[in-house]
Amino acid sequence: MGLKGCVIITAMAILEIRKYPDEVLKKKALQVEKVNDKVRKLIDDMIETMHAAPGVGLAAPQVGVSKKIIVIDISSKEEQFPLIVLINPEITDTDGLVSSDEGCLSLPKYNTVVKRAEKVVVKGLDREGRVVVIEADGLLARALQHEIDHLDGLLLIDRISSIKREFFKKRFQKVLANAARE
Ligand code: NI
Repeated sequence: MGLKGCVIITAMAILEIRKYPDEVLKKKALQVEKVNDKVRKLIDDMIETMHAAPGVGLAAPQVGVSKKIIVIDISSKEEQFPLIVLINPEITDTDGLVSSDEGCLSLPKYNTVVKRAEKVVVKGLDREGRVVVIEADGLLARALQHEIDHLDGLLLIDRISSIKREFFKKRFQKVLANAARE
């Protein structure tokens, strides 16, 4: 049997997750000008990468692409939540403040308490380029703020006190020194 008449489907790919202190994580991501198949392919790969990690959210800079795209899937923690894809997301309103424990795929084995808005309203585009507005609280509100921070070049260590940040950096230097010795 030849290839004639066959449909070749591009398989989804698991991408490399960039880790702190990779420079791409500090850059401000660029607006997506056109939602086309190339963007949708990246979104599919980001979803695959997020699920494989596993994680509840991923931003394009975390896979080395400095563009405003995020994916979130909190269904493993809270059922009945659909997978969210947002292009060019912006927070248009916030309410309240709440502290909770957070981690990040770009900061392996690190968790810390971060204070964030309790509720957010986020506006962006879906994978077809249609405008969507999401009102969220709880884990989804937190995940949205965390992923949108990535698009502004911010990590959760930029959201904690300077004392805690210094502690993180010292610990990170130790991890690097140990890795170099091995
Ligand atoms: Ni993160």
